[in-house]
Amino acid sequence: MHAVLNHNIDLDKPVQLSRGVYWVGGSSGKGGVPANPYLIIDNEEGVLIDGGSRPDFSTVMRKILQTGIAPEQIRYLVYQHYDPDLCGSIPNLEQIIGHKNLRILSKKENIPFIRHYAVQAEILCIDDLNLQLKLASGRRLLFYPTPYAHSAGSFVTLDETSSILFSSDLCGNVAQPDQWKLFAELPDQCLSCHDFSPPGHNPTCPNPQTCIWSLVHQFHREVMPCNRALHHAVQILASINAIMVAPQHGSIFHTREHIQAVYRLLRSFKDIGIDHILGPA
Ligand SMILES: [Fe+2]
Ligand SMILES: [Fe+2]
Repeated sequence: MHAVLNHNIDLDKPVQLSRGVYWVGGSSGKGGVPANPYLIIDNEEGVLIDGGSRPDFSTVMRKILQTGIAPEQIRYLVYQHYDPDLCGSIPNLEQIIGHKNLRILSKKENIPFIRHYAVQAEILCIDDLNLQLKLASGRRLLFYPTPYAHSAGSFVTLDETSSILFSSDLCGNVAQPDQWKLFAELPDQCLSCHDFSPPGHNPTCPNPQTCIWSLVHQFHREVMPCNRALHHAVQILASINAIMVAPQHGSIFHTREHIQAVYRLLRSFKDIGIDHILGPA
């Protein structure tokens, strides 16, 4: 069933995840890590989440336009931390959106860094907004800080209407370009499997060459700072009632079973970041 879902998707176009919620990801053909910006269109208002890198800007912008929204309808740019793979295109976005009402939203720890990209738009701190953005229709985006997972000011965003959780680098996974799927394909054997060794070293894995768990493990081991920060973040994710988890990199987890399985996996990791280098404390 999940393979059919991916089979019918044209990744050269925006992909609707729920009503008014789109994946507008770039290709990152320039050697960077492929990333997933997301667009929410609510009546006349657009919100772009983790808008993408500079090399991906033209692809992302084309897909935004293909949804039917005009650039000037984008009112908010949300940045869940400050890495270049999500913030690099801020100057391009400011220029094409081009109105004074554009607002950038982020957490206070990120703002001094985001200021190095943003030269026009006013930056609002989500702490001052009570950790939520209320759109004109009343639709709310709720923000949940996940400190040091991986930046001091990292957070994740729940769209209350669709129950989609935009998890930023958390739950990220990066496959080879020819093996990547927008929606994670997890046969039943994978849901209870704990073998996340790299391909070729995972004798009990039912999908030894394309195991998504090994991709999740590798990504978190390299990007997150330590076990404690990751496990704290997973506790926060697990407290959020999401029906889909859409990370900034890799495949989307689109069933509650898949979401529970990926959280379980993240909790089991004991070699993240500095803990991988120094060994357990
Ligand atoms: Fe990051
Ligand atoms: Fe990232």
